[in-house]
Amino acid sequence: MSRSVEFFDTQFKRQVQGGEFELNPFERVALAYLHGAVLDLGCGLGNLALEAARRGCTVTAIDASAAAIARIHGAAQEECLAVEPIEADLTRFNIGQEYDTIVAIGLLMFFPQSRALAMLRDIQAHVRPGGHAIVNVLIEGTTYMDMFTPGEYFVFRREELMDSFADWVIAVARYDDFPAPGNTLKVFSTVIARKANEKTLNVPEYPLVSEARPHITEAAARSAEPQSHGKHRVASQIPGPTLPLWIRNCV
Ligand SMILES: C[S@@+](CC[C@H](N)C(=O)[O-])C[C@H]1O[C@@H](n2cnc3c(N)ncnc32)[C@H](O)[C@@H]1O
Repeated sequence: MSRSVEFFDTQFKRQVQGGEFELNPFERVALAYLHGAVLDLGCGLGNLALEAARRGCTVTAIDASAAAIARIHGAAQEECLAVEPIEADLTRFNIGQEYDTIVAIGLLMFFPQSRALAMLRDIQAHVRPGGHAIVNVLIEGTTYMDMFTPGEYFVFRREELMDSFADWVIAVARYDDFPAPGNTLKVFSTVIARKANEKTLNVPEYPLVSEARPHITEAAARSAEPQSHGKHRVASQIPGPTLPLWIRNCV
C-alpha cells in the first residue's frame, strides 16, 4: 500500500468509527451532473457514489482503501443500492467501457505526471457523447504534502486541467483554496465538462464559465494490475452495467 493510500485508509477508519459520512464541497457541486452509468475513481468513503445510486444511477466505485470499500459494500447492501464497490490500485488500471459520468475527485495528483495525464485522457476517452467528466485535482500553490508518496505525485499547473477540456462544454470551472495543517495550503482546480455530441456541438446549454461558477481564488478558502482482495471484485473483472447480486435480490 502506498503512503497516500495508507494515509487515507487510516483517515477512513477513523471516519467510519465516528460515522462521518458528509459529502465534501466538490462532491456537493458534482451532484447535479450525475446521471446514468457512473464510474467513481478514487471514490474514498463512497459518499458521492452512494448518493448517486440513491438518485437512480448505476455506480461502479473504485478505490485502493480497504476500509473505504468495506464501508461502501456495507452501505450499498443495507440500502439496496446499485453500487459496485471495487478495491483496486488504479496505478495500472484502464477503463474498460464507456460511462455517462466519470468522476475523479481528488485522485489524479496521487500519481506521477505521466500516469496522472494518461488517466485524465482515459477518463475523457470513456465518457459517452453527451455525458460528463467531473475532475478535481491539486494544483500549483499547494504546500500541504503529508498525504503524498514522495516522488509519486503530480501537482497540476493552474490552467492545465481546464485546458485539457478544450473541446468540451464546460459546466463548472473553479479554483478553491483551503488552509491545511502546519499553516500550509491546498489549492484545487475543479472542472465539470460535458462531452459534445451532435446535438450539443456549438450549442452549449450552459452559460459561460465565468457566469456559471466564478473562479474562486486565493482568498476563497472558505469554503490493470489491480490487487485482488478476498470478496471484492478486481478491476480487470469489471463487467458491463450488470447489477450486483444483492441488488438483483432486492428488486
Ligand atoms: C483525496 S481522497 C478523495 C476521495 C473522494 N473522491 C472524495 O472526494 O472524498 C483520494 C482518494 O484516492 C485514493 N487513492 C489514492 N491513490 C490510489 C491508487 N493508487 N489506487 C486507488 N485509489 C487511490 C485514496 O484511497 C483516496 O480514497
